[in-house]
Amino acid sequence: MSELRKEPVLYDSGQSMPYVDSRIYSDEGIFAEEIEKIWKKIWLVTVHESELPEPLDFRTLTIAREPVVIVRGTDNKIRAFRNVCPHRGNLIVRKPAGNLSVAEPSGNANYMTCMFHAWQYDCFGRCVDIPRMKQGYQDRLRKEDISLEALPCEVKHGGFVWLSLNKNVEPLAEFTGEAFDIMKVELDTEPLDIFHYHKAIIPSNYKLWHDTNSEFYHDYMHYFNRATSMMQKGYFERQYTAFPNGHCTVGSMEVKYEAYQGAKERPLSFPGMPRNGWKMVDLFPGATYNIRGSSLRVDTTTPIGPNLVMIEFRGLGLKRDTPEERAQRIRDHNTIWGPFGRNLHEDLLGITGQGVAMRPGTEPRQVLHGRHENNSIHDEIGMRHFYAEWQRRMGRSPSDPMRELSLAAE
Ligand code: FES
Ligand SMILES: [Fe+2]
Repeated sequence: MSELRKEPVLYDSGQSMPYVDSRIYSDEGIFAEEIEKIWKKIWLVTVHESELPEPLDFRTLTIAREPVVIVRGTDNKIRAFRNVCPHRGNLIVRKPAGNLSVAEPSGNANYMTCMFHAWQYDCFGRCVDIPRMKQGYQDRLRKEDISLEALPCEVKHGGFVWLSLNKNVEPLAEFTGEAFDIMKVELDTEPLDIFHYHKAIIPSNYKLWHDTNSEFYHDYMHYFNRATSMMQKGYFERQYTAFPNGHCTVGSMEVKYEAYQGAKERPLSFPGMPRNGWKMVDLFPGATYNIRGSSLRVDTTTPIGPNLVMIEFRGLGLKRDTPEERAQRIRDHNTIWGPFGRNLHEDLLGITGQGVAMRPGTEPRQVLHGRHENNSIHDEIGMRHFYAEWQRRMGRSPSDPMRELSLAAE
């Protein structure tokens, strides 16, 4: 079950009209199983390296209910640890972000200090002080043998910090495979940095957000997209490509931004990106890289409950941007993707409505994923591909989720 697929597989419910059962979005038991079988097992994209620019900068977050701290070391390398004290299991770093050079009230500068009994740890996760160690533990305990649990962590794909709670996770390069090839030049030619962050906590299931990022049929909801894309040349030629392990990409087209009253074309771009181009990479189980000409948006999801998800939105440009270029990228980004933009909030309203209609305890119903259009833009291949991977990892069929599949049947 845990081995990686070499070929993409599309989910097929066996019906001419593929669907999933709404209980995959609403059932508490399914949600708890997803945390164990997917979120605790897999590589996840988290913060951007530019959010921790200086040595000893840190960020804390919670992944699959587990507290994590990400720290840039004095050697400039970024590492991730479980943010849990090996002594008696207390949470150690309690701020969302900061720099370890600021001492905690009970500890020394440059260290992470657990407030409970003041054990201290350095940026490499090593325990550097245990108060009254000899008196209490005699020779039975050495601080040299104690450390925070390091997590697999890599900075990759445009400078994002990827990590996993699974010590035995496969190499990141195997997990993402060729899914980033479409965006490699844009992301990895020169350093990027973040200029925008906001988050939304929505009473809906995390997969419904990813579904929305994985289909374009809902462009009917976005007037901005209808005017600048759907009515323009090349829209229906955009192709979905499915990759192993549940990822997929969407090919580019030239967006006519000026077709929306008040909007302008986007002369700024990324290395290798066609002028006014638009590319997407959707990553299992819940992240999306989306470049629209001058700005990159990266969505990451944190499932909180079957009907509650935190979605974090980051906007990025090139680190070398001049102040004028940066201001332009921010304007372009916020025009559609800011909290008051012309597109993003509509998607959030879409999944909020789904969350209301499919909240825990509602009647099971069929949710169609049935559009086939030669893998082009209104084909729902992206969602079907996602649910093939979901089935493989969960050992359950998305259209019949209350029954466990036997491995042989899978
Ligand atoms: S729980 Fe951390 S020092 Fe005791
Ligand atoms: Fe949308």
